[in-house]
Amino acid sequence: MTKNLSTIAPLVFAPESGAGSTGKSPLQERILKLKKEKNAVILVHNYQDGVIQEVADYVGDSLGLSYQASKTDAEVICFCGVHFMAETAKIINPGKRVILPDPEAGCSLSDSCPAEKLAAYKAKHPDIVVVAYINCSAEVKALSDVICTSGNAVDIVKRIPEDKEILFVPDQNLGQWVAHQTGRKMKLWPGNCYAHILFSTEAIERIRLQYPGAPVVAHPECVDSVRRMADLVCSTEKMVTFCRDHESDAFIIVTETGMLHRLRRDIPGKTFIAGPTENCACNECRFMKMNTLEKLERCLDTLEPEIVLDPETVAAARLPIQRMLEWSR
Ligand code: 13P
Ligand code: SF4
Repeated sequence: MTKNLSTIAPLVFAPESGAGSTGKSPLQERILKLKKEKNAVILVHNYQDGVIQEVADYVGDSLGLSYQASKTDAEVICFCGVHFMAETAKIINPGKRVILPDPEAGCSLSDSCPAEKLAAYKAKHPDIVVVAYINCSAEVKALSDVICTSGNAVDIVKRIPEDKEILFVPDQNLGQWVAHQTGRKMKLWPGNCYAHILFSTEAIERIRLQYPGAPVVAHPECVDSVRRMADLVCSTEKMVTFCRDHESDAFIIVTETGMLHRLRRDIPGKTFIAGPTENCACNECRFMKMNTLEKLERCLDTLEPEIVLDPETVAAARLPIQRMLEWSR
Protein backbone atom coordinates (compact mmCIF):
# COMPACT_ATOMS: atom_id res chain seq x y z
CA MET A 1 0.00 0.00 0.00
CA THR A 2 1.23 3.52 -0.80
CA LYS A 3 2.12 5.55 2.31
CA ASN A 4 0.82 9.06 2.83
CA LEU A 5 3.75 11.08 1.51
CA SER A 6 3.16 13.90 3.96
CA THR A 7 4.08 11.51 6.82
CA ILE A 8 7.52 10.73 5.36
CA ALA A 9 10.28 13.00 6.70
CA PRO A 10 12.67 14.04 3.91
CA LEU A 11 16.22 12.70 3.96
CA VAL A 12 18.48 15.73 4.15
CA PHE A 13 22.29 15.85 4.26
CA ALA A 14 22.98 19.30 5.70
CA PRO A 15 26.49 20.79 6.13
CA GLU A 16 28.18 19.23 9.16
CA SER A 17 28.98 21.55 12.07
CA GLY A 18 32.60 21.36 13.21
CA ALA A 19 35.37 19.57 11.38
CA GLY A 20 33.67 16.14 11.36
CA SER A 21 35.49 12.89 11.97
CA THR A 22 38.25 11.96 9.56
CA GLY A 23 39.22 8.84 11.52
CA LYS A 24 38.64 5.31 10.23
CA SER A 25 36.96 2.47 12.10
CA PRO A 26 39.07 -0.63 13.01
CA LEU A 27 37.37 -2.54 10.17
CA GLN A 28 38.18 0.21 7.68
CA GLU A 29 41.80 0.22 8.93
CA ARG A 30 42.06 -3.56 8.39
CA ILE A 31 40.70 -3.13 4.86
CA LEU A 32 43.30 -0.47 4.05
CA LYS A 33 46.07 -2.71 5.42
CA LEU A 34 44.89 -5.69 3.36
CA LYS A 35 44.69 -3.48 0.30
CA LYS A 36 48.39 -2.62 0.66
CA GLU A 37 49.43 -6.22 1.36
CA LYS A 38 47.60 -7.53 -1.71
CA ASN A 39 48.65 -4.66 -4.01
CA ALA A 40 45.00 -3.92 -4.71
CA VAL A 41 43.14 -0.82 -5.82
CA ILE A 42 39.63 -0.21 -4.44
CA LEU A 43 37.31 1.31 -7.04
CA VAL A 44 33.96 2.44 -5.67
CA HIS A 45 30.80 3.57 -7.44
CA ASN A 46 28.99 6.71 -6.24
CA TYR A 47 26.02 4.60 -5.05
CA GLN A 48 27.97 2.59 -2.48
CA ASP A 49 27.48 3.19 1.24
CA GLY A 50 29.45 6.12 2.67
CA VAL A 51 31.58 3.79 4.82
CA ILE A 52 32.75 1.98 1.66
CA GLN A 53 33.37 5.25 -0.19
CA GLU A 54 35.68 6.25 2.69
CA VAL A 55 38.16 3.42 1.95
CA ALA A 56 38.21 3.95 -1.82
CA ASP A 57 41.19 4.88 -3.96
CA TYR A 58 38.68 6.35 -6.37
CA VAL A 59 34.93 7.05 -6.15
CA GLY A 60 33.08 7.89 -9.34
CA ASP A 61 30.59 7.13 -12.08
CA SER A 62 30.76 4.28 -14.59
CA LEU A 63 32.85 6.28 -17.05
CA GLY A 64 35.39 7.49 -14.47
CA LEU A 65 35.65 3.99 -13.03
CA SER A 66 36.31 2.52 -16.49
CA TYR A 67 39.15 5.01 -17.00
CA GLN A 68 40.58 4.22 -13.59
CA ALA A 69 40.43 0.50 -14.37
CA SER A 70 42.23 1.12 -17.65
CA LYS A 71 45.20 2.88 -16.03
CA THR A 72 45.78 1.12 -12.72
CA ASP A 73 49.14 -0.54 -11.94
CA ALA A 74 47.71 -2.59 -9.07
CA GLU A 75 47.68 -6.39 -9.40
CA VAL A 76 44.18 -6.71 -8.00
CA ILE A 77 41.11 -4.58 -8.76
CA CYS A 78 38.58 -4.72 -5.97
CA PHE A 79 35.39 -3.32 -7.43
CA CYS A 80 32.72 -2.05 -5.07
CA GLY A 81 29.77 -1.64 -7.36
CA VAL A 82 27.65 -4.13 -9.28
CA HIS A 83 28.57 -7.15 -11.37
CA PHE A 84 28.60 -5.53 -14.83
CA MET A 85 31.01 -2.84 -13.55
CA ALA A 86 33.46 -5.45 -12.25
CA GLU A 87 33.11 -7.35 -15.53
CA THR A 88 33.99 -4.17 -17.43
CA ALA A 89 37.15 -3.80 -15.33
CA LYS A 90 38.05 -7.44 -16.13
CA ILE A 91 37.45 -6.92 -19.86
CA ILE A 92 39.78 -3.90 -19.80
CA ASN A 93 42.36 -5.81 -17.71
CA PRO A 94 42.14 -9.50 -18.62
CA GLY A 95 45.52 -10.18 -16.95
CA LYS A 96 44.52 -8.77 -13.56
CA ARG A 97 42.53 -10.35 -10.79
CA VAL A 98 39.19 -8.54 -10.43
CA ILE A 99 37.13 -9.17 -7.30
CA LEU A 100 33.67 -8.04 -6.20
CA PRO A 101 32.62 -8.22 -2.51
CA ASP A 102 29.21 -9.75 -3.33
CA PRO A 103 28.85 -11.65 -6.63
CA GLU A 104 25.05 -11.43 -6.32
CA ALA A 105 25.22 -7.65 -6.77
CA GLY A 106 23.48 -7.60 -10.16
CA CYS A 107 21.44 -4.98 -12.00
CA SER A 108 17.80 -5.09 -13.16
CA LEU A 109 18.72 -3.05 -16.20
CA SER A 110 21.46 -5.43 -17.26
CA ASP A 111 19.08 -8.39 -16.71
CA SER A 112 16.49 -6.82 -19.00
CA CYS A 113 18.66 -7.52 -22.07
CA PRO A 114 19.64 -11.20 -22.32
CA ALA A 115 22.40 -11.78 -24.88
CA GLU A 116 20.39 -14.50 -26.73
CA LYS A 117 17.55 -12.06 -27.36
CA LEU A 118 19.92 -9.39 -28.63
CA ALA A 119 21.66 -11.95 -30.88
CA ALA A 120 18.26 -12.98 -32.31
CA TYR A 121 17.38 -9.32 -32.97
CA LYS A 122 20.72 -8.70 -34.68
CA ALA A 123 20.26 -11.76 -36.88
CA LYS A 124 17.06 -10.16 -38.21
CA HIS A 125 18.63 -6.67 -38.51
CA PRO A 126 22.24 -7.32 -39.55
CA ASP A 127 23.02 -3.68 -40.46
CA ILE A 128 21.80 -2.05 -37.26
CA VAL A 129 24.42 -0.30 -35.09
CA VAL A 130 24.11 -1.44 -31.47
CA VAL A 131 24.94 1.24 -28.90
CA ALA A 132 24.99 -0.42 -25.49
CA TYR A 133 24.75 1.42 -22.20
CA ILE A 134 27.53 0.04 -19.98
CA ASN A 135 24.84 -1.44 -17.66
CA CYS A 136 24.77 -4.74 -19.56
CA SER A 137 26.48 -8.14 -19.40
CA ALA A 138 29.86 -8.94 -20.96
CA GLU A 139 28.01 -11.10 -23.52
CA VAL A 140 25.82 -8.16 -24.57
CA LYS A 141 28.90 -5.92 -24.80
CA ALA A 142 30.47 -8.54 -27.06
CA LEU A 143 27.50 -8.17 -29.44
CA SER A 144 27.63 -4.36 -29.47
CA ASP A 145 29.34 -1.83 -31.72
CA VAL A 146 30.08 0.77 -29.07
CA ILE A 147 29.49 1.15 -25.34
CA CYS A 148 28.36 4.34 -23.63
CA THR A 149 27.72 5.54 -20.10
CA SER A 150 25.22 8.13 -18.92
CA GLY A 151 28.16 10.57 -18.94
CA ASN A 152 28.99 10.25 -22.63
CA ALA A 153 25.90 8.68 -24.30
CA VAL A 154 24.96 11.89 -26.15
CA ASP A 155 28.48 12.33 -27.58
CA ILE A 156 28.76 8.66 -28.53
CA VAL A 157 25.45 8.65 -30.42
CA LYS A 158 26.46 11.87 -32.24
CA ARG A 159 29.48 9.99 -33.63
CA ILE A 160 27.36 7.38 -35.44
CA PRO A 161 26.90 8.28 -39.14
CA GLU A 162 23.43 9.70 -39.91
CA ASP A 163 22.59 7.00 -42.46
CA LYS A 164 22.97 4.20 -39.91
CA GLU A 165 20.04 2.82 -37.97
CA ILE A 166 20.73 2.60 -34.23
CA LEU A 167 19.48 0.15 -31.62
CA PHE A 168 20.04 1.50 -28.11
CA VAL A 169 20.17 -1.16 -25.36
CA PRO A 170 19.15 -1.82 -22.61
CA ASP A 171 17.73 1.38 -21.02
CA GLN A 172 14.73 2.83 -22.82
CA ASN A 173 14.70 5.88 -20.54
CA LEU A 174 18.32 6.85 -21.12
CA GLY A 175 17.83 6.03 -24.81
CA GLN A 176 14.79 8.28 -25.03
CA TRP A 177 16.67 11.11 -23.32
CA VAL A 178 19.62 10.72 -25.71
CA ALA A 179 17.21 10.72 -28.67
CA HIS A 180 15.74 14.01 -27.41
CA GLN A 181 19.19 15.54 -26.88
CA THR A 182 20.56 14.52 -30.27
CA GLY A 183 17.40 14.63 -32.39
CA ARG A 184 18.39 11.15 -33.52
CA LYS A 185 15.73 8.49 -34.04
CA MET A 186 16.77 5.21 -32.41
CA LYS A 187 15.17 1.85 -31.72
CA LEU A 188 15.00 1.45 -27.94
CA TRP A 189 15.32 -1.85 -26.10
CA PRO A 190 12.47 -2.13 -23.55
CA GLY A 191 14.61 -2.25 -20.39
CA ASN A 192 14.77 -0.05 -17.32
CA CYS A 193 16.29 0.43 -13.89
CA TYR A 194 13.82 -0.79 -11.27
CA ALA A 195 15.06 1.87 -8.80
CA HIS A 196 15.05 4.98 -11.00
CA ILE A 197 11.56 4.33 -12.35
CA LEU A 198 10.25 4.53 -8.76
CA PHE A 199 10.65 8.32 -8.80
CA SER A 200 7.28 9.92 -9.63
CA THR A 201 6.26 13.46 -10.57
CA GLU A 202 3.97 13.62 -7.51
CA ALA A 203 6.77 12.73 -5.08
CA ILE A 204 9.22 15.16 -6.71
CA GLU A 205 6.62 17.94 -6.79
CA ARG A 206 5.98 17.48 -3.08
CA ILE A 207 9.66 17.76 -2.13
CA ARG A 208 10.03 20.73 -4.46
CA LEU A 209 7.26 22.52 -2.57
CA GLN A 210 9.14 21.84 0.68
CA TYR A 211 12.40 23.22 -0.75
CA PRO A 212 11.40 25.94 -3.21
CA GLY A 213 14.39 27.25 -5.10
CA ALA A 214 16.47 24.09 -4.68
CA PRO A 215 17.47 22.94 -8.19
CA VAL A 216 16.36 19.41 -9.09
CA VAL A 217 19.12 17.20 -10.50
CA ALA A 218 18.01 13.89 -12.02
CA HIS A 219 19.67 10.83 -13.53
CA PRO A 220 18.66 10.04 -17.14
CA GLU A 221 17.44 6.59 -16.07
CA CYS A 222 14.37 8.35 -14.58
CA VAL A 223 11.18 8.37 -16.64
CA ASP A 224 10.55 11.25 -19.05
CA SER A 225 7.93 13.04 -16.88
CA VAL A 226 10.40 13.16 -13.96
CA ARG A 227 13.33 14.22 -16.18
CA ARG A 228 11.21 17.12 -17.42
CA MET A 229 10.95 18.45 -13.86
CA ALA A 230 14.73 18.58 -13.51
CA ASP A 231 16.96 21.64 -13.84
CA LEU A 232 19.67 19.27 -15.02
CA VAL A 233 19.63 15.66 -16.21
CA CYS A 234 23.10 14.11 -15.98
CA SER A 235 25.39 11.29 -14.89
CA THR A 236 26.27 10.93 -11.23
CA GLU A 237 29.71 12.50 -11.76
CA LYS A 238 28.32 15.58 -13.50
CA MET A 239 26.03 16.07 -10.48
CA VAL A 240 29.13 16.86 -8.41
CA THR A 241 30.44 19.59 -10.71
CA PHE A 242 26.96 21.06 -11.27
CA CYS A 243 26.19 21.35 -7.54
CA ARG A 244 29.68 22.71 -6.80
CA ASP A 245 29.50 25.41 -9.45
CA HIS A 246 25.85 26.40 -8.95
CA GLU A 247 25.03 29.43 -6.81
CA SER A 248 22.31 27.56 -4.86
CA ASP A 249 23.27 26.02 -1.52
CA ALA A 250 20.60 23.26 -1.55
CA PHE A 251 19.77 20.63 -4.20
CA ILE A 252 17.20 17.87 -4.68
CA ILE A 253 19.08 14.81 -5.93
CA VAL A 254 16.93 12.38 -7.93
CA THR A 255 19.03 9.25 -8.10
CA GLU A 256 20.24 6.46 -5.82
CA THR A 257 20.79 7.79 -2.31
CA GLY A 258 24.46 6.78 -2.00
CA MET A 259 25.11 9.77 -4.24
CA LEU A 260 24.41 12.08 -1.31
CA HIS A 261 27.49 10.75 0.55
CA ARG A 262 29.70 11.59 -2.40
CA LEU A 263 28.15 15.07 -2.73
CA ARG A 264 28.54 15.82 0.96
CA ARG A 265 32.17 14.66 0.93
CA ASP A 266 33.10 16.80 -2.08
CA ILE A 267 30.89 19.81 -1.33
CA PRO A 268 30.68 19.93 2.47
CA GLY A 269 29.16 23.42 2.68
CA LYS A 270 25.93 22.65 0.80
CA THR A 271 22.68 20.80 1.57
CA PHE A 272 21.49 17.77 -0.40
CA ILE A 273 17.94 16.45 -0.24
CA ALA A 274 17.24 12.92 -1.45
CA GLY A 275 14.63 12.65 -4.19
CA PRO A 276 11.80 10.63 -2.59
CA THR A 277 9.64 7.87 -4.10
CA GLU A 278 5.96 7.25 -3.31
CA ASN A 279 6.94 5.05 -0.37
CA CYS A 280 10.23 6.29 0.94
CA ALA A 281 12.29 9.42 1.56
CA CYS A 282 15.23 7.75 -0.17
CA ASN A 283 15.82 5.30 -3.00
CA GLU A 284 18.48 2.65 -2.50
CA CYS A 285 19.50 0.16 -5.20
CA ARG A 286 19.22 -3.22 -3.49
CA PHE A 287 22.05 -4.58 -5.65
CA MET A 288 24.48 -1.78 -4.89
CA LYS A 289 23.74 -2.14 -1.20
CA MET A 290 24.66 -5.86 -1.16
CA ASN A 291 28.31 -4.88 -0.72
CA THR A 292 29.27 -4.26 2.90
CA LEU A 293 32.52 -3.46 4.71
CA GLU A 294 32.54 -7.01 6.15
CA LYS A 295 32.26 -8.56 2.67
CA LEU A 296 34.89 -6.15 1.38
CA GLU A 297 37.34 -7.24 4.10
CA ARG A 298 36.70 -10.94 3.37
CA CYS A 299 37.10 -10.43 -0.35
CA LEU A 300 40.44 -8.61 0.03
CA ASP A 301 41.62 -11.30 2.44
CA THR A 302 40.71 -14.28 0.20
CA LEU A 303 40.83 -12.48 -3.19
CA GLU A 304 37.46 -14.13 -3.87
CA PRO A 305 34.88 -13.96 -5.40
CA GLU A 306 36.80 -13.42 -8.61
CA ILE A 307 35.28 -12.30 -11.92
CA VAL A 308 36.00 -15.00 -14.48
CA LEU A 309 35.05 -14.54 -18.13
CA ASP A 310 35.76 -16.66 -21.16
CA PRO A 311 38.58 -15.21 -23.31
CA GLU A 312 36.46 -15.01 -26.49
CA THR A 313 33.83 -12.89 -24.78
CA VAL A 314 36.56 -10.68 -23.31
CA ALA A 315 38.17 -10.14 -26.72
CA ALA A 316 34.85 -9.32 -28.40
CA ALA A 317 33.63 -7.07 -25.58
CA ARG A 318 36.89 -5.12 -25.38
CA LEU A 319 36.53 -3.53 -28.84
CA PRO A 320 33.31 -1.56 -28.15
CA ILE A 321 34.65 -0.49 -24.74
CA GLN A 322 37.93 0.73 -26.25
CA ARG A 323 35.94 2.56 -28.91
CA MET A 324 34.01 4.33 -26.17
CA LEU A 325 37.16 5.26 -24.26
CA GLU A 326 38.78 6.63 -27.43
CA TRP A 327 35.67 8.51 -28.58
CA SER A 328 35.17 10.24 -25.25
CA ARG A 329 38.73 11.31 -24.47
P1 13P B 1 26.46 6.53 -13.65
O1 13P B 1 27.20 6.05 -14.83
O2 13P B 1 25.84 7.87 -13.85
O3 13P B 1 27.31 6.46 -12.44
O4 13P B 1 25.22 5.54 -13.39
C1 13P B 1 25.38 4.19 -13.14
C2 13P B 1 24.13 3.53 -12.73
O5 13P B 1 24.08 2.35 -12.48
C3 13P B 1 22.94 4.33 -12.66
O6 13P B 1 21.90 3.59 -12.12
FE1 SF4 C 1 21.27 -1.23 -12.04
FE2 SF4 C 1 19.49 0.59 -11.35
FE3 SF4 C 1 21.05 -0.44 -9.50
FE4 SF4 C 1 22.07 1.26 -11.36
S1 SF4 C 1 20.59 1.74 -9.76
S2 SF4 C 1 22.96 -0.68 -10.67
S3 SF4 C 1 20.82 0.68 -13.12
S4 SF4 C 1 19.50 -1.56 -10.71
